Amino acid sequence: MDSISAQEQTVAVLKKTIESQNLPHMLFYGPPGTGKTSTILALSRELYGPKLMKSRVLELNASDERGIQVVREKVKNFARTAVSNRTKEAGDYPCPPYKIVILDEADLMTQDAQSALRRVIETYSKVTRFCLICNYVSRIIEPLASRCAKFRFKPLDISNTISRLKMICEQEDVNYSSQTLEELATLSEGDLRKAIMYLQSASKLHKKEMITTESIREITGVVPDDMINSLIESAKSKKNEIQLEEEVAKVMCSGFSAVQILSQIQDQILADYQINETQKARIGEFIGQFDKYLADGTDEHLVITNLIKIISVEC
Ligand SMILES: Nc1ncnc2c1ncn2[C@@H]1O[C@H](COP(=O)(O)OP(=O)(O)O)[C@@H](O)[C@H]1O
Ligand SMILES: [Mg+2]
Repeated sequence: MDSISAQEQTVAVLKKTIESQNLPHMLFYGPPGTGKTSTILALSRELYGPKLMKSRVLELNASDERGIQVVREKVKNFARTAVSNRTKEAGDYPCPPYKIVILDEADLMTQDAQSALRRVIETYSKVTRFCLICNYVSRIIEPLASRCAKFRFKPLDISNTISRLKMICEQEDVNYSSQTLEELATLSEGDLRKAIMYLQSASKLHKKEMITTESIREITGVVPDDMINSLIESAKSKKNEIQLEEEVAKVMCSGFSAVQILSQIQDQILADYQINETQKARIGEFIGQFDKYLADGTDEHLVITNLIKIISVEC
């Protein structure tokens, strides 16, 4: 657990509970890639050791069937059998007399399954502790959440992400510059898993050479700034519809994702001093609406074309 970075408070509290060996039911929540799954696995390992962990810990995530039937059978069966006291196998590990059930991505469980879980948690809390993990704490039904000690996992800040990436680069012999790591940390927005994945792709691309910021931007799918600029500029300069459509087609045919384009257009618009506050607010409203369209599966090309035309009318 010592190698978990940035979640000092959570780790400190969890360590205290390991010492007292009295683990509460837990609810870990926070954005992806902040160490939730790693933390509970590390904690289980420190409690039981690698050998006993297999029999003492049940881990179910979203890819496992977790409907009400599974809660009633699999989880219940695992939860209800008591464990014997310390055996020789425990070795130096504390090995407390209860088991742990980890329900990863619990916010994807149905309401019914969550309700069924409520009874199971209550009935077997003497012999089993539950750890629910989720991204959105509001999707866990209240009676379930109130039975757990809640731990919030924060997105990693830039400096924590950088120091983690630096450590990986040094151990894996990756040729990096501090500028690339900073770019990586900014683009991954507090998601360490994403940052590590990008770093891995970049190092594959460059083999033993120095990783460049350009390739980082390429890998992460960021649209080059001048492309976005020229889109907005042509909208502002009131080119005719056909010309605007051509501009949009140029960007879309380079294969960038519309969600990415939308978010970069928003950043540019907000930073543009030639556009006044009212115009920004109006365009912002459309961007929000279009983001929803994209989430619902509307054609990407249409959405971006529409947005550019709106900017052209508004500005
Ligand atoms: N706080 C952290 N400290 C160290 N490594 C982390 C941290 N958060 C994420 N990671 C790294 O990212 C990967 C994914 O983390 P994970 O625990 O699965 O995130 P989550 O479950 O919160 O989405 C881990 O394998 C680990 O390498
Ligand atoms: Mg996880």
